[in-house]
Amino acid sequence: PYVLTETEYVNQEELTYPFEERGLQFGDGVYEVIRVYHGEYYLIEEHVERLYRSAAAIKLEVPYTKEDMYKRLDQLLQLNAFTGDGKVYLQITRGSAPRDHAFPKGVGANLYAYVSDVPRKLDLMEEGISTITEPDVRWDLCYIKSLNLLPNVMAKQTATEHNCFEAILHKDGKVTECSSSNVYLVKDGAIYTHPATKNILHGCVRIRIEAFANEAGVPFHEEAFHLEDITEADELFLTSSTAEVMPIVNVDGKTVANGTPGKITRLMQQAYEKDAG
Ligand code: PDD
Repeated sequence: PYVLTETEYVNQEELTYPFEERGLQFGDGVYEVIRVYHGEYYLIEEHVERLYRSAAAIKLEVPYTKEDMYKRLDQLLQLNAFTGDGKVYLQITRGSAPRDHAFPKGVGANLYAYVSDVPRKLDLMEEGISTITEPDVRWDLCYIKSLNLLPNVMAKQTATEHNCFEAILHKDGKVTECSSSNVYLVKDGAIYTHPATKNILHGCVRIRIEAFANEAGVPFHEEAFHLEDITEADELFLTSSTAEVMPIVNVDGKTVANGTPGKITRLMQQAYEKDAG
């Protein structure tokens, strides 16, 4: 397969990484996961905009102009003759240099982007998934899609060990998001989710959920909910580029409402289907 790098497309087998690489040694970089349906990008502008915002936030220069980025990402799918459902993973690091915490001088960024298959999780989206809750022990700048994912990895692993799909993260009981998705509570016909502050990743699908809600006349409140609100919730769901709109039917071993996906969740799934299709 062809991989996009900071200078050109190379064959994956030819891709080598230096021993001292700042992404590897410091997690000093940013990334994106972009959904592809039938060989076409979904929400590409939102992802590219967020990539440049994340890079700017860590004072990292993206090797391509935005215009170039769009062109090359398109070419990546063409070169690989990718026509299925998948994702493009793209990461940019501060480059390769002798290990020193301070930024290296005169060193260019390293970039790679590749495409892989990601089948839609249709069964799970139909039935809903189980979750656990975990303290959100991440740093204060979670709006940056940085490569430092150890707290997210640990939370997801704990969820996996409990046979759960995701970990719902909270700061002193206030729900922020999940380890790799945004989370929403439905109560009395309205959607509640943590505001897009620096404490959460501003999900590209989250932007669409707000629009779908507005179009359907469903009140969308950017207002954080708490762990105790989950007991009283009518519905709970999460979103991400790979999980789409996923109903949550169980939290910490207790069913959410009657334990089946709710009406507004279904409405959001239908709106997503139409938008992405
Ligand atoms: N995760 N919150 C976190 C912490 C995330 O890592 C993600 C995405 C989201 C949802 O963002 P979006 O709607 O733009 O996909 C929210 C990607 C899929 C990942 O790391 O694999």
